[in-house]
Amino acid sequence: MVRQDKIRFGAIIHGVGGNISSWRHPKVASNQSVSLPFYIQQAQKAEQGKFDVAFIADGLFINEKSIPHFLNRFEPLTLLSALAVSTNHIGLVGTVSTSYSEPFTVARQFASLDHISNGRAGWNVVTTPLESTALNYNKTIDQHPSHAERYQIAEEYLEVTKGLWDSWDDDAFIADVENDVFFDPAKLHTLQHKGKYFSVQGPLNIARSKQGQPVIFQAGSSDAGIRLAAKDADAIFTHGASLEEAQKFYKKVKTAVADVGRNPDEVKIFPGISPIIGDTIEEAEAKYQEIVELVSIERALAYLGRYFDHHDFTQYDVDALFPELGDIGANSFRSTTDYIKTYAKEEGLTLRQVALREATPKTTFFGTAEQIADLVQEWFEKEAADGFIVAVTVPDALDDFVDKVVPILQARGLYREQYEADTLRGNLGLPFKESRYVTQSV
Ligand SMILES: Cc1cc2nc3c(=O)[nH]c(=O)nc-3n(C[C@H](O)[C@H](O)[C@H](O)COP(=O)(O)O)c2cc1C
Repeated sequence: MVRQDKIRFGAIIHGVGGNISSWRHPKVASNQSVSLPFYIQQAQKAEQGKFDVAFIADGLFINEKSIPHFLNRFEPLTLLSALAVSTNHIGLVGTVSTSYSEPFTVARQFASLDHISNGRAGWNVVTTPLESTALNYNKTIDQHPSHAERYQIAEEYLEVTKGLWDSWDDDAFIADVENDVFFDPAKLHTLQHKGKYFSVQGPLNIARSKQGQPVIFQAGSSDAGIRLAAKDADAIFTHGASLEEAQKFYKKVKTAVADVGRNPDEVKIFPGISPIIGDTIEEAEAKYQEIVELVSIERALAYLGRYFDHHDFTQYDVDALFPELGDIGANSFRSTTDYIKTYAKEEGLTLRQVALREATPKTTFFGTAEQIADLVQEWFEKEAADGFIVAVTVPDALDDFVDKVVPILQARGLYREQYEADTLRGNLGLPFKESRYVTQSV
């Protein structure tokens, strides 16, 4: 199918890497997760490739089994404020949990980032799958909300945040020196929110931004996650399993968006991909093997366990079939754990095979730049994606992608040569976000 819109890309910048042992690679500096020069270099590289977004994932609980990047990394909004002044066009999307934060503070932080970056801020809304996070926030593990409740909280949280962002009409600050009038009181809105989870009076102490409100990404792929995205998000970050799975997910999300009366084009779907690119297939394979050889089975089991709320997989025979886990994982990364359980069973894999596959994923997006470009085009044209979040599994993957895959897609007319707009919303092809009070009076 020929599509009128263009492919979009985000770069997930992940310090020493999302792979449990990638920090050991000779091309990786062990301090990369707390190196501002590294993040600036990667964000600028993504901007050189005309990416929509630099994307920072996050988590709020670690233990000694967590992957090295999680053990020592930057807080996303602090980092993105620094990236805002070292980039000019790329969107800056940071992950913040609705289960462990306060809407007033978070609304304020993202609004500030939106002003600092001149309309390029985005929030990746997550609900925090790891129950031990409760221990870092004055709670006990039993008080970690269930999967269903986390999404109910998220929904109300977004209602409050968006309400706070509209505290001031776009032209509220008239700054009339002569008459000593700083703002027009008729253009100030006090939210007065009282709900099940939050009680927030408002107003927020910062104006709306150049793009109206920060862009909302949602990362969570269960039915509850899709419902939240359909109602409240501008984009959704999801797994990039197979073409067929991605097509099913795409259709499900777009249908859910239409069902709530929104335009399906206004919720962009970004599967995550981890391209491994070589000038030949053999070179791509060699790059992959360099990473595989760094990972021991013990580390791979610990990595797998994290998705299942740090379940201890060392208790099983690694060469027996993947164990029956019942509900384990259902309250954690549910969509991920359901996916792992399903493919392990369908393909008859052992625990060792599953752990190594998760710890060193060899994705579909593997091969020469031409082959990767073909896959990107196919997924886009077959409506499996509106864009992709590109993760780095092997060092240099982002550089390879920008230097080798992007020019092919540009030559095919599928990808931008220049940024079209000066806000993240504009580049994503989303309209300026009007204030709810403007909408009401129309
Ligand atoms: C692609 C993807 C990326 C995610 N990124 C994060 C993240 O950076 N931080 C985090 O705490 N949770 C992250 N999550 C977890 C979700 O916010 C959610 O808590 C969890 O996946 C359970 O929801 P689900 O069953 O709807 O997927 C991510 C989930 C997905 C699917």
